[in-house]
Amino acid sequence: MTAPSPLSLGVLVSGVGSNLQAILDAVGAGTLNAQVKVVIANRAGAPALDRARRADIRALTIPHTEFSSREAFDRALVSALREAEVNWVVLAGFMRVLTPEFLAAFAGRIINIHPSLLPAFPGVDAAKQALAYGVKLTGCTVHFVDRGVDSGKIIAQRAVPVETSDDLSSLSARIHAAEHELFVDVLREIAAGRVVPFEA
Ligand code: GRF
Repeated sequence: MTAPSPLSLGVLVSGVGSNLQAILDAVGAGTLNAQVKVVIANRAGAPALDRARRADIRALTIPHTEFSSREAFDRALVSALREAEVNWVVLAGFMRVLTPEFLAAFAGRIINIHPSLLPAFPGVDAAKQALAYGVKLTGCTVHFVDRGVDSGKIIAQRAVPVETSDDLSSLSARIHAAEHELFVDVLREIAAGRVVPFEA
């Protein structure tokens, strides 16, 4: 039996890039059968871009503010991802909703990570929402991306306890640590063919 070929990943980011780092570290350590072909940020100066460059990975900025429409921005993303010969798209803290056109270009092969146990607390500030609600358990979710906000089919979740002493910073740190493990675990499942592209 021949070994499965590595995943060709395009990672979209907007900020810090700690999830991107977890993926790069797993690839570097040989524990994830994948190549990160390109990292694209919609914000110039996103620290995630430096993480990519440090790992010798192509890092592009495509600022959404320079496009007259969502569609035009997404077409630029698709073209950069296609040029890099990406076959799975990973949203790692990417703060833009994608158009149907983008979704069709990588049909069923786009995944996102979200810092809550969906369907609880979608959208921004999920950890803040969890603290405000007073839940005792939150976590993180990796899901396929659809037209909604954090509404696609769930692939995997990990629970994280909320301690009475938690503030936003301590809870966010605990969720982030769980995210790093979960994201890489899901990508390993995809690389092994145990998670397959989502068919609508
Ligand atoms: C993560 O909490 C992720 O779930 C959310 O955005 C955050 C990105 O963090 N979508 P980082 O940039 O990977 O550190």
